Amino acid sequence: MINNSKYNAVITGVGMYVPDDVLDNDYFSSYLDTNDEWIVSRTGIKERRILKNGATSDMAYGALKDLIDTTGLDPNEIDVIIVATVTPDMLFPATACIVQEKIGAANAWGFDLSAACSGFLFAVQTGAAFITSGAFKKVVVIGADKMTSIVDYSDRNNCILFGDAAGAILLEATEDKTLGIKDSILHIDGTGVDVLNMKGGGSLNPPTHETIDKKMHYLYQEGKAVYKRAVLGMAEVSAEVVEKNNLKPEDIAWLVPHQANLRIIDSTAKRMGIGMEKVMINIHKYGNTTSGTIPTCLAEYYRDGKVKKGDNLVFSAFGAGYTWGAIYLTWGID
Ligand code: UT7
Repeated sequence: MINNSKYNAVITGVGMYVPDDVLDNDYFSSYLDTNDEWIVSRTGIKERRILKNGATSDMAYGALKDLIDTTGLDPNEIDVIIVATVTPDMLFPATACIVQEKIGAANAWGFDLSAACSGFLFAVQTGAAFITSGAFKKVVVIGADKMTSIVDYSDRNNCILFGDAAGAILLEATEDKTLGIKDSILHIDGTGVDVLNMKGGGSLNPPTHETIDKKMHYLYQEGKAVYKRAVLGMAEVSAEVVEKNNLKPEDIAWLVPHQANLRIIDSTAKRMGIGMEKVMINIHKYGNTTSGTIPTCLAEYYRDGKVKKGDNLVFSAFGAGYTWGAIYLTWGID
C-alpha cells in the first residue's frame, strides 16, 4: 500500500451486534455424528449465535446503531457505507442501501464488497483509500454475515463452523501520521474457487429445482484443502507486513485475526513470534462469522479496556477466492 497524502485513515469508533440465540456444540451432537470434544479440539468453537428472524442488514444496522450510540455520530454526516458480506439480503440492491435507509444516513453513498472472510479487511483498505485521497471525511465499514442462511445443517463438516454477527467501524482522517492505517498487503488467487464457494443462485447456476436438489444454495467447503492454504497464507502475510515495517514482535500490541479456526490463529501468532495473550479471540463464543470476526473482536477488546491509543495492531484474514491479507495500523481512540 502506498499513502503519499498528508492524512492517515484512523478508526474513530466501533460497534457490534450479535443475535441473542445460542447454538452450543451439544446441539449438533443431538442429531449428527459429532461431539463437543471434536469440535473444540479441531476448531476452538464452543458455541455460536444464530439470527432466527431478520437478515444481514438487521445485524449491520445493529452494529452501526451501536457505533452511533457510543460515539454520538450524526447519521447525516456519514459519507460512505461499505458493507462487506457474502450473505447480502438480496443479490441486489446492495445491503448498504438497506442499511443507509434504516439508519437514516441521508447524505451517504455506498456499496457491498464481496471478499468472503477477507471482506472486512478489503473494505477497510477501500475505505481508508477514500479517506486518504481527501475525497470523503467519514466512511463507515461494516462486516456482516448471516452465515446460518447458507449453511447445510446436515453437513457435519461445515455446519459446526459458522455463526451470525456484525461489526462496524468509523474511519476518519488524521494529520497525525503516527496513528491510523499504515500499511496493507492484500491478495486474491482464483485457484481457490473450487474448494470454497456457493455454486447456486448466481448467473452460473440460476436457481432451479435441480440446483436446490443438489444443495447448490449452500456453502461448499473442502476444509482440509482450505486449511492448508489458510495456515500458510495468513501466517506469511502477517509476518510480511510486520517485517516490511521494521517491527519486532514486541512492537505489536494485538494480532486481530479472522476467526476460522483456533489452530490457524495459533500458527499465525507463532510465525509472527507473538504469544497468544496478544491475540484477540472470540471464536469460542461466535464461531466463524466471516466478515464479522475482526470488527466484533475489536469492539469487544476495546470496550474491555484492552486496546489503548498508540497500540500497534495487525489485522489478518484468509478466505474464499482465495482472498487474504494483513493490515498494520496504530490505534487512535483514547
Ligand atoms: O474462513 C474461511 C476459510 N475457512 C477456513 O479457514 C477453514 C479451514 N478448515 C478447517 O478449519 C478444518 O479443515 C476443519 C475444522 C473444517 C476440519 O478439521 P480437519 O482437522 O481438517 O479435519 P478433516 O476435515 O481432515 O476431518 C478429519 C476427520 C474426518 O474423518 P476421517 O475421514 O478421518 O474418518 C472427518 O470426516 O474428522 C471427521 N469430521 C468430523 N468428526 C466429528 C469432520 N467433521 C466432523 C465433525 N465431528 N463435525
